[in-house]
Amino acid sequence: MKYIKILFLFIVVQVTAQQGGMWIPSLLEGMNEQEMTSLGSKLTAKDIYDVNNSSLKDAIGHFNGGCTSEVISPEGLILTNHHCGFGEIQSHSSLENDYLKDGFWAMSKQEELPNENLYIEFIVRIDDVTTKALNGVANTMTEREKQSTIDKNINEIQKTVQKEAWQGVKVKPFYKGNQYFLFVTERFDDVRLVGAPPSSIGKFGSDTDNWVFPRHTGDFALFRIYADKNNRPAKYSKDNVPYKPKHFLPVSLDGVEEGDFTMVFGFPGTTNEYLPAVAIQHITQEFNPSNIAIREAALKEIDAQMKASDAVRIKYASKQARIANAWKKWIGENLGIKKSNAIAERQAFEATFKKALKEKGLEASYGNILPEFEKLYADFAEINIRRRNFIEVFLVNNELMQMMFRAYQLEQVALNKPERFDEAKNSYINRLKGIHKDFDANVDKGVFSNVMPLYNPKNVDASIYEKTSFTNLDNALQLFEGNAKKVVKNLNKDAAYQYAKPMIKEFFTKIDPEFQQKNQPITALQKTYMKALMEALPNARYFPDANSTLRVTYGQVRGYSPRDAVYYNPVSYLDGVIEKYVPGDYEFDVPQKLIDLYEAKDFGQYTDKNGKVPVCFLGTNHTTGGNSGSPAIDAHGNLIGLNFDRVWEGTMSDMNYDPEICRNIMVDARYILFIIDKYAGAKHLIDEMKLVHPKKK
Ligand code: ARG
Ligand code: ASP
Repeated sequence: MKYIKILFLFIVVQVTAQQGGMWIPSLLEGMNEQEMTSLGSKLTAKDIYDVNNSSLKDAIGHFNGGCTSEVISPEGLILTNHHCGFGEIQSHSSLENDYLKDGFWAMSKQEELPNENLYIEFIVRIDDVTTKALNGVANTMTEREKQSTIDKNINEIQKTVQKEAWQGVKVKPFYKGNQYFLFVTERFDDVRLVGAPPSSIGKFGSDTDNWVFPRHTGDFALFRIYADKNNRPAKYSKDNVPYKPKHFLPVSLDGVEEGDFTMVFGFPGTTNEYLPAVAIQHITQEFNPSNIAIREAALKEIDAQMKASDAVRIKYASKQARIANAWKKWIGENLGIKKSNAIAERQAFEATFKKALKEKGLEASYGNILPEFEKLYADFAEINIRRRNFIEVFLVNNELMQMMFRAYQLEQVALNKPERFDEAKNSYINRLKGIHKDFDANVDKGVFSNVMPLYNPKNVDASIYEKTSFTNLDNALQLFEGNAKKVVKNLNKDAAYQYAKPMIKEFFTKIDPEFQQKNQPITALQKTYMKALMEALPNARYFPDANSTLRVTYGQVRGYSPRDAVYYNPVSYLDGVIEKYVPGDYEFDVPQKLIDLYEAKDFGQYTDKNGKVPVCFLGTNHTTGGNSGSPAIDAHGNLIGLNFDRVWEGTMSDMNYDPEICRNIMVDARYILFIIDKYAGAKHLIDEMKLVHPKKK
């Protein structure tokens, strides 16, 4: 009896230790529910996802397809990250009303600002449609034939689905195409800006602090959904009314402590958790380093010129942030893979897999997968890097080459689809204008001189910057006057176009086709591998890779040790903002009002039990890009924080989640409330929320 008890305890401890994974909200009953409970959750699977009653999922909206947002009041008030709403905040800003710099607060609903092209989408229902989607797919078919059968099936599923007229539907592959799920959606297009702190709060620490802890960023913004009189989705109209949600998240004033349960509910974008060791090796030892080198070369020039000139600094701020964000992430990813010994561990796992194949008599069906991966990656590595380097140089870092790339596409339209030329020309001209709004030829030339040697060292000719028309918008626009024939002629006389065209042509005719051809068998094999894993090791925890669909991840509040003898506490405080304060600095300036509140200790009800204002905290929740803006939810279903980032060494969680060092970073809900109430004086927004004290009950 005693032994059985000990054995049982051991099993329970094993189960509670399990964290990581991004789970499908409609399938939480059973294992996930048990794991969550053992981590301290008081929620049932049905509290989180229910079709017949309102549940937490009804408060979670996909924000413009890229970020997550959540409803936090009965009047459709929406919370997301400052960096998710950055484009909207920027688009309402001008020199007189610089909302990026000074923040924006609507003091009444009349002052809320509408946004063209901004939408929020909720999930009404999730159905498993695997059987229908894979109907008629046979092993004897080619990959192409399989895909076209699946596409036809999906079409049929979408046509016959039961839903209301105003609802949408999409079907997506899971587990590398071994399963398919259907989503009935509700999309709202009238979403208005309600409030945003100044960048010195919402983007505090900027790139220096990006991807790291300790962190002190108040990365949040507020919006509001408007619906028609029947509470249904509608295009913008001044007659629309605030949306009455099926559910909104109460906000907890009690915060969290180390070890408390947390759950993050949102729309993670892309992960690759089931890669073979050879792929992780390729990505971290060959692919990432070459991309890091290109971005580093570009940033060297951009950073120097931004420091030297305010005009350049303003023009290049958001470009620089975009380039630096992935650059810094890849460096952290490599660090984490190395630190956690991920490649050796994955190889050890593969040995276990092989053993299981043997034991289960599956060698004949699946024994070839791993050696086949080795062969395919050996053949794929070079073209994968070359294609990506092209994209980095021509589409990410250098804008003259970007203008050439799009011009080449326009020339193709002129030659092959002349009936669509006018439309394509207009959209090209708009793109040109867009690029030139924030363009500096001198900076771009410096970037060119730094990055092109990394793509095509034998052919770097910066003198094109002196000869081309494209460094000046008016001169460039002149090339596009007239019909297709004339435009093509003008283009081909331009020095930059003459220089870039052979490389772009090579990309479309050789590099990209070769990449597709070598990538396709890898994708197909990855699908077989996924199936093989589930058959050979059926008791492991399998969650589908992120694919921009609604997921639940859970864990606990935890600090971590990034390096020998270093330990990061899980919570940062307002004191840390003041510690980092550098007057006038573009990353670490602090608004005077915030300093005043700090000095007067005017913190209202937004402190922890020691009287301090918490700013950010860490958890073991498994998140990725797209989870920005996701709510951090406590054991009772209340909002306790807002997800916005991960720690540096933990960004490898996209390939290898390790509970030792993978941490997500959240803004504490009390900091958000403190800024809204005390800093912005927008008490009316606090009043429409439901503030709760779950720990005082
Ligand atoms: N690293 C976070 C995420 O990938 C935040 C990015 C926004 N902040 C910034 N400094 N660029 O998106
Ligand atoms: N910052 C990311 C986002 O914008 C989140 C992450 O990668 O952890 O979605």
